Amino acid sequence: MKRIAIFASGSGSNAEHITDYFAKGNVARVEVIYSNNPKAFVIQRAARLNIPLVLFDREKFYGEETILRDLQSRKIDLIVLAGFLWLIPGNILKTFRDRIVNIHPALLPAYGGKGMYGMAVHEAVIDAGETESGITIHLIDEVYDKGKILLQEKCPVLPGDTPDILAEKVHRLEYEHFPKVIEKMLE
Ligand code: GAR
Repeated sequence: MKRIAIFASGSGSNAEHITDYFAKGNVARVEVIYSNNPKAFVIQRAARLNIPLVLFDREKFYGEETILRDLQSRKIDLIVLAGFLWLIPGNILKTFRDRIVNIHPALLPAYGGKGMYGMAVHEAVIDAGETESGITIHLIDEVYDKGKILLQEKCPVLPGDTPDILAEKVHRLEYEHFPKVIEKMLE
């Protein structure tokens, strides 16, 4: 049984889907959820799912080895970033090279980089008049949003689509594909 750690900063709906998906099989299980945001709804989801939740601040994440050591003591095989806002520090990147996967709610390299998170991405896509968007699942390396792409899936952006409507379409793609890509990485 492989061990997954999820990092999430917000609602955590992907974290919940991934946890449920693996709870049904015997490939892996979600061991822990980490968050930088004490107000994130993912904290309530973790409690409901009975998954340990570790909160950290900037000092703990960037100034100490606490989180790296916590990951190691839980024998984590794969780190999943599911709506996580902060950059991963060098010590974790180095130790988990090719074992950190991120999901981005657009078709990278477009609409990636600094500030491109969640609804801001969907607003930018609609403002630019794009006719399609989608998801990108990729490995994380030193340059954010630039790691090896594992999967992209598209959805149409229709006239009249609001950022909320687009977010829903993108979330549907995320729930369908992210757990499967994670599973493949663990095989
Ligand atoms: C997801 O759409 C994910 O792709 C996005 O945040 C949302 C989190 O939703 N990630 C990024 O924008 C990363 N740059 P969730 O908290 O409900 O899973």
